[in-house]
Amino acid sequence: MLYKTERFFVNTYHALASTAFPRMPVPVPNVLNGDKSLDALAEHLRSKGIQRPVIFTDSFFYTLPSFQLLIDALKKRNIDYKVFNEIQPDPSYAIVEKGIAACYEHNYDCAIAIGGGSSIDGTKMINGCAKHNLDPRKITHGLMSMLQLRRKGAYFVAIPTTAGTGSEATTVTVVTDEKTNQKNALVSYGIVPDLAVFDSRLTMALPPHITAATGMDALTHAMESFMSTYATKQTDEMNLKSIQRIFKFLPRAYKNGTEDDEARIEMALASFDAGKAFSKTLLGWAHGISHQLGAFYKVPHGLGCAIALPHVLQFALPKATHRLAIIADAVGLPGATQTEKAQAVVDAVFELNRTLDINSKFDMIKEEHVSDMARNIIKEGNMAYPSHRNFDSYTHLEDFLLERKHYTHKPMAA
Ligand SMILES: [Fe+2]
Repeated sequence: MLYKTERFFVNTYHALASTAFPRMPVPVPNVLNGDKSLDALAEHLRSKGIQRPVIFTDSFFYTLPSFQLLIDALKKRNIDYKVFNEIQPDPSYAIVEKGIAACYEHNYDCAIAIGGGSSIDGTKMINGCAKHNLDPRKITHGLMSMLQLRRKGAYFVAIPTTAGTGSEATTVTVVTDEKTNQKNALVSYGIVPDLAVFDSRLTMALPPHITAATGMDALTHAMESFMSTYATKQTDEMNLKSIQRIFKFLPRAYKNGTEDDEARIEMALASFDAGKAFSKTLLGWAHGISHQLGAFYKVPHGLGCAIALPHVLQFALPKATHRLAIIADAVGLPGATQTEKAQAVVDAVFELNRTLDINSKFDMIKEEHVSDMARNIIKEGNMAYPSHRNFDSYTHLEDFLLERKHYTHKPMAA
């Protein structure tokens, strides 16, 4: 199909979906939040009569003192837990199957995911399948999975230890097929956690470069969700609050994260709000580009988002000036006109990257890969990313990537 014809159908789809999608009743987890939330969690589980949780994490987090805080809290309340510490980045079907077996062995009544986005994503799939005896390999990909994973799993607690993915609030999980190396995204309201727990003691030790990358992932969620054509008044409120928090607290968490528990908690809440919002609005092209930077050059997801975000905002500016100007007002950026305010937001994101020692350049992109990258980005993004400005052709995106490879940003005020 010719690209312009394809875009016509995609635009029609987004116009229809923008009225229905944000009205879908996405479940929202309850929240426990503070510097002793793990103790409050153990008390909460007791009060619900939960006795046999399985804790899901990765083998590294399992060795950290932070993990012991959860174990101590459960032991104090005599809760008979089991630990499954084999979750890996981009968990495979084989890992999911082992996790399901752990639930059966322990006759579990609750799933607790503690760790980064992969631990929470893996547990979403394990819990959904274990509770209803489903074969994870037979779950269809994409939106069709909603029909198979529609029922809730056992009581599900998510304890994120990085403030960025928002996985604790979203309807999406990703599983890797180890035979084809294909990543399969599954969507279901049934996999959203019942409870999200934010305990600042868990994120205090996060190294600065991971704090920066995961924080910029959260900012990309909030900004792309705000810039989505599916955005509503309700998602705008969540996203603007999240953006305000990130501009204020991410530099603090980056520079002084081992001591600044206020910055850590505020970042966790910012990530959570953005996660809730983008479950209704979807995301944008910076995510598509980041996924390809990851696939071709192993750039971590959050870092890829950080690099792509200011370029994508600059690209969107002519068609989304008003939306960017609202962000400028929310974070107190100057500008005499809407365009100046919008440009101030782009400048501020480039500047935030500089503060976090992130180089906003696509200099890792090799010319011989650009064509494949552009095809993959458009294949993923045309349906998934309801944006105000889209690429007119594959060549348009190829040119954008190549032009930005050597781009040096000069802020408006310079
Ligand atoms: Fe992301």
